Amino acid sequence: MAVWGWLSLAVCQVEAASAIPVVHRSQGPEAAGSMLASVGAVLIKGEVPTSKEFENLAMSAWQAAGHPGLGLGNYNKVGTVQRPMLSEGIYDVAAGAPAHLPVSPHSEQAYLYQVPRFCGFVCMRAADTGGELQLFDNVLLGTELRNLTDKLAKLGLTYFRVMGDQVHSANWSYATGMWQDRFGTTSWPEAKRLASLDEMMGGKPGAELGPWLQGTVILNWTVPAVTWINMTSNSHEKTKPAKAVLQSILDSHKSVNYGTGIPALHSTWGDGSEFEEWELAAFRAAVTRSLWVSVKLEEGDVVVVDNWHYAHGRLPYEGPRKHAALISDRFPRQVQQQQEACV
Ligand SMILES: *[C@@H]1O[C@H](CO)[C@@H](O)[C@H](O)[C@H]1NC(C)=O
Ligand SMILES: *[C@@H]1O[C@H](CO)[C@@H](O)[C@H](O)[C@H]1NC(C)=O
Ligand SMILES: *[C@@H]1O[C@H](CO)[C@@H](O)[C@H](O)[C@H]1NC(C)=O
Ligand SMILES: *[C@@H]1O[C@H](CO)[C@@H](O)[C@H](O)[C@H]1NC(C)=O
Repeated sequence: MAVWGWLSLAVCQVEAASAIPVVHRSQGPEAAGSMLASVGAVLIKGEVPTSKEFENLAMSAWQAAGHPGLGLGNYNKVGTVQRPMLSEGIYDVAAGAPAHLPVSPHSEQAYLYQVPRFCGFVCMRAADTGGELQLFDNVLLGTELRNLTDKLAKLGLTYFRVMGDQVHSANWSYATGMWQDRFGTTSWPEAKRLASLDEMMGGKPGAELGPWLQGTVILNWTVPAVTWINMTSNSHEKTKPAKAVLQSILDSHKSVNYGTGIPALHSTWGDGSEFEEWELAAFRAAVTRSLWVSVKLEEGDVVVVDNWHYAHGRLPYEGPRKHAALISDRFPRQVQQQQEACV
């Protein structure tokens, strides 16, 4: 299975050459913010924070990195996997993927039209073995994918989510849940209408809801995959635009199905055509080569990441591991036309 293909790739990966910049909490938000602005990620050392402290650390870092006023985002309001909440706005990262499997690299909620600008992680307890946080460079991914990047820019990506129906597939157990809960109605026409209005998910055309196998339903929507970000060159504080491939393909494909039965997640090219086997293999290889850092967080570590610049994943682990996550507010990604309009 593709999961195992990916696993062996991830485990055989050589030690990443670069390191994430480290600051201590006592250095204040400006130190973290300047690293976040210039590198796109920062590791903040300190005692295990409370939820409120974690929120404040992450928010003050991205605000100091040039996004004043950017607030906390909400996972469950728009995500397609409902996550257990540890406290208001803070989510248990264990949702979805079993410990013995790696979490495939993805930018947080990159399957949505509007993507969180930053994400943050905190380690409250490290695993006994494994469980490293990995960051992957989406700009390097764009280069590594060669002409597949052009195909991504041209077609975009379509994401699919299968949900249960309270009557016809009451045994549906995956975390995508039941469509009636998701849309807060038992009226099918009303749910379809709400889906079509969901700009956060699918932009102007919204998302499409339809019947699926064995009494389930399927929701699908299409998003751009190539995003322009501003990179700071090390020599001067000047920024230059760069193409980043912002995607959630490898953890949103039926070949990476955690359970048995109907796969809950799937993705295709934006014209509905399936990825060819060689294309999926090329994605996995390019993503592996885009690995930037692999770091085992210690208790109290907080990592804040530019979610457009870097994807994240984690290696398999053993023993209890307690990590939590949060996201910032979201925006539609910056695509080429907008970029040209503002230069
Ligand atoms: C992309 O490159 C591959 C290998 O170099 C080639 O086989 C393929 O035809 C190219 N595809 C396009 C659309 O140019
Ligand atoms: C759930 O119910 C459907 C329809 O009765 C059946 O086809 C399917 O196998 C069941 N799935 C599980 C996981 O029991
Ligand atoms: C949903 O999927 C169907 C079938 O692939 C496709 O025809 C339709 O255009 C998709 N809709 C959106 C909004 O992506
Ligand atoms: C990049 O910089 C331009 C000009 O300052 C700005 O308009 C744009 O929003 C920035 N893009 C991102 C993704 O931050």
